[in-house]
Amino acid sequence: MTRFIGIISGKGGVGKTTCVLNLAITLTNFGRHVVAVDGNLATPNLGLSLGIPSFKIDLNDVLDGKGDITNTAYRHISGLMIIPSDIKYKTAGSHNFESLKNNIKLLKDRTEIVLVDSAGGINEEARGVIKAVNDVIVVTTPDLNAVTGALKSIAFAEENGANVLGVIINKVRGESFELSLQNIETILEKPIIAAISNDKKVLESLGTKQPVAYAYPNTAIGKEFKYLASKIIGQVYEDGSGELKEVKLEYSDFFAK
Ligand SMILES: Nc1ncnc2c1ncn2[C@@H]1O[C@H](COP(=O)(O)OP(=O)(O)O)[C@@H](O)[C@H]1O
Ligand SMILES: [Mg+2]
Repeated sequence: MTRFIGIISGKGGVGKTTCVLNLAITLTNFGRHVVAVDGNLATPNLGLSLGIPSFKIDLNDVLDGKGDITNTAYRHISGLMIIPSDIKYKTAGSHNFESLKNNIKLLKDRTEIVLVDSAGGINEEARGVIKAVNDVIVVTTPDLNAVTGALKSIAFAEENGANVLGVIINKVRGESFELSLQNIETILEKPIIAAISNDKKVLESLGTKQPVAYAYPNTAIGKEFKYLASKIIGQVYEDGSGELKEVKLEYSDFFAK
């Protein structure tokens, strides 16, 4: 059984690509078979973030009928499998979103989890991803602009038939001017499945091309991604032993952290 999960947001720059990469690497480290797909076709970042600007065959070729998606996955040294998109401008406008869904579904039973990175907002491109998956996770930062956008994204996802698994609050600084997690949960009426700190190492990782979950798995932010990953597979990550245990997910067990 393959799970198809889209990572969406109300606006750009909140951390979707960062979450896709680090979540996929962490799940891979947990022994799960995961494929991260770059569904942000207009401005793809997955390959670039790993230091690989272009590929022999990519998702754009597949959507153009020039390749088979099941032959388009690449393995990074972290173990992470990605299906990248083309960074060139010439391919940016020519997407067939119906074909995205049909192609992504071909990954069924070939992997355990397909994580699809998406464009921000509620455009045709984001809708293409939402229609290609069953579940979505919404990423926001703890400010009213992003949370208001997230509210729209949640409605948009549900209107397009996706189940909203929960919300990731990213770039949390713990400052008094930020919206509190409880506040955000009240506004969005969806469970918060993780809070990820604002951490300079994430920016550094863009320079070194080594995502924090790969370069620094045992730092505070590495553990935050472990906590998130464990929730997605219905287990609990126990800091210290690093052991995973089966646990029933509850609406607000985040707050008991
Ligand atoms: N937790 C974080 N701490 C610090 N910087 C972050 C964090 N998450 C993302 N960033 C940075 O914010 C910028 C936007 O992140 P990105 O994942 O590309 O967002 P999106 O895919 O939603 O547009 C990038 O420069 C990224 O390195
Ligand atoms: Mg992105």
